[in-house]
Amino acid sequence: MPSKVTLTTLYKMKDKGEKIVALTAYDYPFARMVDESGVHMILVGDSLGMVVQGEQSTLPVSMDEMIYHTRIVSKAAAYAMVIGDMPFMSYQASISEAVANAGRFLKETTATAIKLEGGAAVSKTIKAIAEAGVPVQAHIGLTPQSVHQMGGFRVQRDAERLLADALEVESAGAFSVVLEGIPADIAAKITAALKIPTIGIGAGPDCDGQILVLHDLLGLNDRHVPKFAKQYARLIDTATTAIKQYAREVEKGTFPGKEHCY
Ligand code: KIV
Repeated sequence: MPSKVTLTTLYKMKDKGEKIVALTAYDYPFARMVDESGVHMILVGDSLGMVVQGEQSTLPVSMDEMIYHTRIVSKAAAYAMVIGDMPFMSYQASISEAVANAGRFLKETTATAIKLEGGAAVSKTIKAIAEAGVPVQAHIGLTPQSVHQMGGFRVQRDAERLLADALEVESAGAFSVVLEGIPADIAAKITAALKIPTIGIGAGPDCDGQILVLHDLLGLNDRHVPKFAKQYARLIDTATTAIKQYAREVEKGTFPGKEHCY
């Protein structure tokens, strides 16, 4: 088993032009599959509000829920770096609350780092958290916690502002930045301008790495699947077929069979 991915691993990968593979996970069994597949970075995203909790946005997710999911995912990650996502209102109200909440991820789980959304507007917060010894991944472009301010989940196209945000989070001390919902040419320019790795989602092929929401990749989600998400499987169909078969067999009395009895 290769040694666990660290910040140094990621910087070296950017330098060598090796792509960083990132994926979300929210529980132990799926995190094990992700880790064993050679994914470098597991984000315990607040997307769990939408794909696990059935919410319409990520806004209702709490700090305690994020800590719970990050703790169980961390147990499964022997190789991948685990990043805990700071939920809405865990870092916006004050810098001291942000530092305390960021610290909880490292004290109460075995995650290596945290992620938070925003560019220049949160650069002081990023600096304070990083100076407290917690590695910070920034997230710019389409930032789902600002869904109402953006007027929906909209692609962000202001190239000048996006580049300024990226440079600002880098100089505040972020070790990496997620670029979400940005035209590919703008993401490519940002990636070339930064020393830290960029991880794209809906930001084209030229980012240093890519991330997807696990439930989109596996086809576990029958709600809206965004244009940028490739479904590599349709587990929702496989699982529903298996559950229906179990239900029919219980109804008919053919399960359990002799082989399942003591
Ligand atoms: O919450 C999340 O899963 C994310 C990724 C989509 C980057 O922020």
